[in-house]
Amino acid sequence: MLPPARRGRRLALPALLSLLTCSLAFALVSEDVKKEARQSKNLEKSDISKKNDIDLKEIVFVIQSQSNSFHVKKAEQLKQSILKQSTDLTQEMPTVLLLHQLAQQEGAWTILPLLPHFSVTYSRNSSWIFFCEEDTRIQIVQLLETLRRYDPSKEWFLGKALHDEESTIIHHYAFSENPTVFKYPDLAAGWALSIPLVNKLTKRLKSESLKSDFTIDLKHEIALYIWDGGDGLPLTPVPEFCTDIVGSSCATSFQSSLPLCGNPVKKEDIFVAVKTCKKFHGDRIPIVKQTWAGQAGHLEYYSDYADNSIPTVDLGIPNTDRGHCGKTFAILERFLNHSHDKIPWLVIVDDDTLISISRLRHLLSCYDTREPVFLGERYGYGLGTGGYSYVTGGGGMVFSKEAIRRLLASKCRCYSNDAPDDMVLGMCFSGLGIPVTHSPLFHQARPVDYPKDYLSHQVPVSFHKHWNIDPVKVYFTWLAPDEEDRARQQSRRGLREEL
Ligand SMILES: *[C@@H]1O[C@H](CO)[C@@H](O)[C@H](O)[C@H]1NC(C)=O
Ligand SMILES: *[C@@H]1O[C@H](CO)[C@@H](O)[C@H](O)[C@H]1NC(C)=O
Repeated sequence: MLPPARRGRRLALPALLSLLTCSLAFALVSEDVKKEARQSKNLEKSDISKKNDIDLKEIVFVIQSQSNSFHVKKAEQLKQSILKQSTDLTQEMPTVLLLHQLAQQEGAWTILPLLPHFSVTYSRNSSWIFFCEEDTRIQIVQLLETLRRYDPSKEWFLGKALHDEESTIIHHYAFSENPTVFKYPDLAAGWALSIPLVNKLTKRLKSESLKSDFTIDLKHEIALYIWDGGDGLPLTPVPEFCTDIVGSSCATSFQSSLPLCGNPVKKEDIFVAVKTCKKFHGDRIPIVKQTWAGQAGHLEYYSDYADNSIPTVDLGIPNTDRGHCGKTFAILERFLNHSHDKIPWLVIVDDDTLISISRLRHLLSCYDTREPVFLGERYGYGLGTGGYSYVTGGGGMVFSKEAIRRLLASKCRCYSNDAPDDMVLGMCFSGLGIPVTHSPLFHQARPVDYPKDYLSHQVPVSFHKHWNIDPVKVYFTWLAPDEEDRARQQSRRGLREEL
């Protein structure tokens, strides 16, 4: 007899597996859309207010794409899906832009710097800029009908609303007296700015430059900018912007399964480096061993002190309280110098990072080891004024060997042993023209620091920090080997028993 929870999981599995096939999902969506399109063509003439009767060609679609080849492929597929659905509807195509092709500037992914471009180029012939992610699924007919509810001659900031349940470090503890009041968009569901708002924001951007040094959580920061301390506009929540499986009223949904391209990367093909120091050997390393370390094929603990009971490797770099730049570069050199010739991937984590190696193996199957890949959760520093993007270290930094080879072949190094390693790496890779590849599945903070609605459409790869949580419980709740692995193990076991 299976406990009820497990029965539920069994039922969910086929749905999960069918989602894994991108092309299948596309096919399903476009069939639905055709049907809806036929129905809505009949409706169109009758009951939609003429004032808001915008055409598809008045929507500029901006896909928040990235230049890594796997991501380009996904963005191109979404673009084709938008254009194909549009062809089925009308003769006049909307504009579909790929963010990574729009501007070479390092901060383009933060979107606000591009608003002046959108204002100049599209304000005369368009009504809406609609933004979405590579994994957003769009039903064009429903989207058009949804946007027609809003008068495009007014200022609008539309999206699926998220809010904080408690104040969090990733939002600089904003609205600490009542964190639920401030709404910001879940970018995965798509979000839209009317052209009058784009024009207004452009004017503001020209008169006062962007202030913040750090870009940490883009969706929150965009909403804060538009809200402008109460003088601007709040987010208008749109129920048709969705992240769950396509429902009939949803104009958007989100492909939320973990990427897998062929077979998962073998665990022997990933080298895991854990940064630690003597003072944490006692309380943090046991947690790594109790949780995820067993999944790793190769793992070493790098410290300022050799402790054979763990064991740790003393890199000969004195421990520093702030950054770990010296330690991290020593790890990179050691990886290239030593016997790890055949290992294509290196992951560097902190001793208080919780990570699922099994999910990482899925994710990495989508990346080409011959390319310089520098992957993790992307933050930005000083992007308004010629800064750079970086992978924030606590969530885990993933490197292809080619990325490390190019980095160490350059002259770029730490300006001091205690410089922040992740930021120096970002600066170096930026100088080499190697962009950060962003995955929102890595997390610099704890699960409680993110809205539940946001985490609900993720298969997270990592979280970070033990502060005020039980890390073992967090690991087994959020990151323990996924259902699919478990199901496969179970069916294998079943097979053996039958034989
Ligand atoms: C609007 O104008 C821009 C810039 O000239 C052009 O690229 C775009 O295709 C135009 N859109 C439509 C729908 O005509
Ligand atoms: C790696 O090799 C270089 C060149 O042989 C050497 O200078 C460096 O000290 C080595 N680094 C490590 C960490 O072994």
